[in-house]
Parts: sequence; structure tokens; C-alpha cells
Amino acid sequence: MKKVLITGAASGLGRAMALRYAREGAHICIADINMEGAAETLSMVENAGGKGWIHELDVRSEEAWNQLHREVVSRWNGIDIVINNAGVATGDRIEDGDWAWWDWIIDINLKGVALGCRTFTPMMKQQGHGAFVNVASLAGLLKAPSMSSYNATKAAVVALSETMHFELMPYGIGVTALCPGFFRTNLNHGMKTSDPDMLKFVDKVFEASALDADDIAEAAYKAVLKNEKICNPHPAGRRAYFFKKYVPFLFNKGMLKMAEGLKKREQQRKSFATGDSQSVMGNGKA
Ligand SMILES: NC(=O)c1ccc[n+]([C@@H]2O[C@H](COP(=O)([O-])OP(=O)(O)OC[C@H]3O[C@@H](n4cnc5c(N)ncnc54)[C@H](O)[C@@H]3O)[C@@H](O)[C@H]2O)c1
Repeated sequence: MKKVLITGAASGLGRAMALRYAREGAHICIADINMEGAAETLSMVENAGGKGWIHELDVRSEEAWNQLHREVVSRWNGIDIVINNAGVATGDRIEDGDWAWWDWIIDINLKGVALGCRTFTPMMKQQGHGAFVNVASLAGLLKAPSMSSYNATKAAVVALSETMHFELMPYGIGVTALCPGFFRTNLNHGMKTSDPDMLKFVDKVFEASALDADDIAEAAYKAVLKNEKICNPHPAGRRAYFFKKYVPFLFNKGMLKMAEGLKKREQQRKSFATGDSQSVMGNGKA
């Protein structure tokens, strides 16, 4: 019986991962700040044949992680897999949005993942086995324009995970950075952005995704079995990363095209705000 801890398991990808492991008969700790969603996930896990328990955790708090560690010791006396999945989103140009949003997203997306790893590495070393899945994003590999703070946290999670991958390999501990592209979850609901078009954009790319949360969970499940360093599940994501590495000229051209589109949209937005719409949209005269 595998013992699997998943942060952010009250919703979206975390819930899908809980259900994937439940199908294998795993015992799952559903850790989240959202206790209502966590309880819902637990009953879904039980219906899928798994067992589990919920634990209130804010991934930003070292003390909360220590408390969770104590509970894991008393309930399981060991752990097989820790999935550091809890995350939030921002979307802004570098000069926009509140500066405080940088602290918010770094504390959850980066330091929350690092704290999860720090808390459970000694237990895994003592056992001589274990695996971490750190949920990054394709954003952390490609770094598209207008998402600087989100991209920065996800690139840092990739860096953290790659560092740990080799550091912990001699101890029998696996580490995988999961790097999906966009797929539909509740991530957009708490997203912080000053750009009114950003949420519409996210909605559109959620809709266009070839994969859903269950597909991503399946890819992650298989990646853990093979101890893959990076799991990049979207086919379009794999193509884009291939271009970035091996055909940078084309990749850079695509990024610049995207940035120019964003510049045009920003100019239109500013002109509308100042009531100068005709100068941007054209007034029919040469
Ligand atoms: N949905 C996407 O398109 C996408 C793409 C790439 C990566 N990701 C990553 O997948 C992960 C899961 O996100 P999701 O898309 O399922 O979104 P989601 O909003 O559906 O789920 C995120 C979960 O994290 C929890 N959470 C937020 N802050 C927390 C905190 N401080 N402590 C504990 N729990 C907290 C939320 O309560 C929620 O249950 C995130 O790390 C996200 O960045 C998502």
C-alpha cells in the first residue's frame, strides 16, 4: 500500500492525482487550505477504492509542515510519494500589478514546494526510498511574455527539482518536475492580474488544451515510475521545447510575434482608456 501526500488536492490537478493513486489502492493525505474541497476529494478517493485523510495545510508555513510531518509519522510512520502541487497564478507585464503579488506567488509556488521537500527528505533518506513530484509548468521551460512572476516561480521549481534529482538519487529518492501546459482547473479563479484581458486569454487556452487534469495525472504517475527528471506531458509543449533547444531561431521568432501582439493589444487598451479609440482602431481616413 503506497502512502502518498498531495498538496493542493482539494481541486484540479491535485484532486486528479489523488484519484489516480486511489485507483492503485494507495492511502492518500489530501493537504490543502480549502477543507471543503479536501473533504470532497476524500469522498471521491473512497468511491474510487482508495483510502485517505485530510489535513489543513498552508504550504507557506514551516510550522504547518512540521505539524503535518508529525501526523504522517503517527499515522503512517513513513511516506512513499510527496506531490508538491499547491499553486496559484499571476499574469502581468513586468511593470504592472502589485509588487506584493511577487511575494505572494513566490511564497506559495516556490517556497511552498521547497518547504515540502525539506520537510520530508530526511524521512525518505532514513527509509532509503521515496519520490517527490514538484509541480512546475511548461511556463517554467518556455517563459512566454507577460507572465513574469509566474514564469519565474515555475522556472525556479524546475531548477530546484533538477538540483534535487541528482542530489537525492544516491539515496534512492526520485524527483520529477512536472511541466504541463494549460489545462482546465480552478487556477484562473484566484489568479491575480491587472490586465482585464488576461482571464479571457487563460479561459481560451484552457478550452484549447488537448489534455485534461486526468491526462496530466496519468503522465505524472508514469513519470514517477521511471523517475523522469522532467515530465512535459502536452505534445505541443514537447514540440515547443524541442524548438527552443534545437531550432532557437524559429522559437525566438514565435516569442517575438507573441510579444508584438501583446504590445498592440496594450496600446489599444490604453487608447480606449483615454478615449482615443479612433487613433488605434482607425477612422477610415488615410
Ligand atoms: N491549470 C493549468 O493550466 C496548469 C498548468 C501548469 C501548471 N499548473 C500547476 O498545477 C498546480 C495545481 O493547480 P491547478 O491548476 O490544479 O489549480 P487549482 O486552483 O484547481 O488547484 C490549486 C489548489 O492549491 C490550493 N492552494 C492554493 N494556495 C495554497 C496554499 N497556500 N496552501 C495549500 N494549498 C493551497 C488551492 O486551495 C487548490 O485546491 C499548480 O502548481 C499550478 O501552477 C497548472
